[in-house]
Order: sequence, then structure tokens, then C-alpha cells
Amino acid sequence: MAFWSKKRKIEHNAVPRHIAIIMDGNGRWAKKRGLPRRYGHRVGAKVFRRIATYCKEIGVQYITVYAFSTENWKRPQDEVEAIMELLCEYLDTALAEFEENRIRLCFLGDRTPLSDKLKAKMAEVEEKSKKYTTVCNIALNYGGRAEILHAARALLEAGEEPTEENFSRHLYTAGQPDPDLIIRPSGELRLSNFLLWQCAYSEFYFTDVLWPDFTPAELDRAVADYNGRKRRYGGV
Ligand code: IPE
Ligand code: IPE
Ligand code: MG
Repeated sequence: MAFWSKKRKIEHNAVPRHIAIIMDGNGRWAKKRGLPRRYGHRVGAKVFRRIATYCKEIGVQYITVYAFSTENWKRPQDEVEAIMELLCEYLDTALAEFEENRIRLCFLGDRTPLSDKLKAKMAEVEEKSKKYTTVCNIALNYGGRAEILHAARALLEAGEEPTEENFSRHLYTAGQPDPDLIIRPSGELRLSNFLLWQCAYSEFYFTDVLWPDFTPAELDRAVADYNGRKRRYGGV
């Protein structure tokens, strides 16, 4: 085997299979520039597209991004509307670009309170992209506690044994591996109700960079840091 191909193989093996990102800091990014918060969300949405594509390029198989939490409804109505509008716009673009990106989009969270228009677009992109193997989960009206309760109810209704395997099959992430690496930009050192069940053995990477300033180079830094960790899963 040529030297370069060996090197590439090593690099490929080192890439986490599943990266999850809490896309935080849009509001502060805009405020620093004297701009309305919604402008930060707009730039953040662009960065999401760039980073999702980059993850696919380096061989990440699952990407999960936190776009809107069950607690984010507390925000002013105009900000919530701006975020929902951006999501609709993003889904239109995604529908037009599927053949190029070849990424499967899935949504995690409770869709009930979302607009019919948004729900219809979500269903359409999920259906049209389901043939692709690289998965991008968008957590939308997602909360870890709500997800756990939702799974517990489904397990009871199905009358199944309460095992970890059975429980996991009722989560929004059913059938997917747990995140290897969870990245939170913006300097906050908390999970904010993200993937509470799935993060049991995830590695965490925190950075002060605000999400709209996040770059592929920053993602490389997170992956390099991850590669220096020893995952023990309770063993030695
Ligand atoms: C993350 O950025 C986006 C959402 C929560 C929808 P924020 O809007 O939380 O930005 P900051 O944390 O206020 O800077
Ligand atoms: C977490 O960020 C949710 C998303 C990024 C979608 P928040 O900005 O809502 O988190 P807190 O309020 O700082 O914990
Ligand atoms: Mg925030």
C-alpha cells in the first residue's frame, strides 16, 4: 500500500462516527455587531450547511444539530417566527440540492406544535433523502427529557420489557449510534436538555467561538482533541 493511502486510512479511522453540535451563540454574535438577533440565526444557518457538508467530506456518518429546543418557545414571538421561517427556507434549498449533497435529513423532536407548512416540508425532505446513508439529524422542538418521557410512554403502551435496547427503539434516534463527540460553541458549559439519554459515554468539546464564527478548522480542532482522549466506558 502506498504511503499516502496508509496515512489517509489512519486519518479516516480517527474520525468520530457521530458528531452532535449545540449551535449556540447566534444572538450574541449579532449583538456584538449591533444587528438584530435574527441576523445571527441567518448566518448560523449558513454555517450549519457548511459544517454539515464538511462533516460528510471527512467521513462522519451521523451529524446531529440542535436547532430549536423545547425551551426556546420562551423567546419573543418575532425571534421564534424568524427561526421557523429560516427553517422553511433551508428546507426549500435542501430539496433543491439533494442530488449534490447526498445527505439524509431526519428530524428529532415533537412536531405537533409546528406549522402545517413546516411539517409538510419536513416530511417531504425526509422521504426524498431517505436513500442516502450519511445522516444529518436536526433537533427541532427537541428536549432530552421530553424525548425520554415520550419513549417511556411508548414502551408502556407496547407492553415491552423495560430494557435499554427496547427503550432506545422508542427514542427519536432509534437505530442510530450514540454521539461520539458533542461540541458546544459559545462558551456555555452545559447540555441545555440535549441528547440526555444518548450522551452517556459521549466525549465533550467546548469552545468560546460563537456558532456563526464556527469553521471547518474549528471542527478539525475538536476532532483532534477527541482523538487524544481515551474512552474507557467504565473499563480500564
Ligand atoms: C442558538 O443561538 C440558536 C437557538 C437557540 C435557536 P442563541 O440564539 O441561543 O444565541 P445566544 O446564546 O443568545 O448568543
Ligand atoms: C441550546 O441553546 C439550544 C439550541 C442551541 C438550539 P440555548 O441558548 O437555548 O441554551 P441556554 O438557554 O443558554 O441554556
Ligand atoms: Mg443560546
